[in-house]
Amino acid sequence: MKFVPFALGALFLATPCLAESEATFEKIKIDAGAALYDAECRRCHASDTAHDSYGPPLENVIGRGAGTYPDYDYSIALEASGIVWTPAALRAWMEDNSGFMPGTKMRHVGIEDRTVQDFILAYLASISDRDPSKISE
Ligand code: HEC
Repeated sequence: MKFVPFALGALFLATPCLAESEATFEKIKIDAGAALYDAECRRCHASDTAHDSYGPPLENVIGRGAGTYPDYDYSIALEASGIVWTPAALRAWMEDNSGFMPGTKMRHVGIEDRTVQDFILAYLASISDRDPSKISE
């Protein structure tokens, strides 16, 4: 039974490290997502509502009803869709927005790589108040 205290001690020592590396991974994902957002989305989407934007601003888009940003002139297809921007809906949108929603006026994007989607989602979550894990995956 000598090993038990040792094992417990090791567990306590390991825990802060784990939490630390998770925080590091999360930060790397957000940074990568920000760079991808700059390359693929920012020319049309401001990330904060204080800036003019050709497309609707994506601040707080996680968990938002589609087509509900006030004063934005959406296509009828998007405004009438009744969907909520869950992480799963955002993946489908990034993968093939015009296939997912025929009639949208957003130019086609085709981001099929799940890792790239993960990074962009991490960035979108970082500019949203709602926690995506409490919405759905
Ligand atoms: C060429 C410009 C352009 C690019 C690039 C672009 N979008 Fe869009 N996006 C739009 C427009 C315009 C709309 C409004 C579509 C409509 O009303 O049908 C839109 C709508 C959206 C919506 C719906 C928001 C809401 O309020 O319901 C999301 C989510 C979105 N885009 C995400 C993205 C992401 C993520 C990227 C980058 C991977 C991206 N878009 C790239 C122009 C663009």
